[in-house]
Amino acid sequence: MNIYEAIKKDHDIQRDLCDKISKTSGNSSERKELWTKLRKELEVHEVAEERYFYSPLIETDSMQEDARHGMAEHHEIDELIQELEATDMVSPHWLATMKKLNDKVHHHLKDEENEFFGKAKKVYSQNKSKELMEGYEKTKRDYKKDWPNSIPGSDLES
Ligand SMILES: [Fe+2]
Ligand SMILES: [Fe+2]
Repeated sequence: MNIYEAIKKDHDIQRDLCDKISKTSGNSSERKELWTKLRKELEVHEVAEERYFYSPLIETDSMQEDARHGMAEHHEIDELIQELEATDMVSPHWLATMKKLNDKVHHHLKDEENEFFGKAKKVYSQNKSKELMEGYEKTKRDYKKDWPNSIPGSDLES
């Protein structure tokens, strides 16, 4: 497995969870459970991806702008997560915000898979992309274990 395959695998999990949440209602236990899973997936993925996909790209002229763009979108995703955490699940605002998150996540994953991966393949050698995958997977494992305390800001709301 290389870094692209590892990321794509997690994107598929995120897309699936987004899809499932949009079919839940109110403050059902199913919605709560799926939301916690999605939040964890998104937050842990962002940390590992920034470290093992974006950070090394920021150093390159060909991808500096894309890397900044991608990480700015992570920030927008974080803001929507915080907004959802601060909103009552039964309110229409929760669902409307979830819809925004869903659209944002889909858009972001498409940018990464359809644009950034192709460009990054010109920067990272095959060996490097395998090495990055190992760092990515290890970081994810470590953060998942300690989540939510490992992610700054993720323990702000009850
Ligand atoms: Fe991302
Ligand atoms: Fe991603």
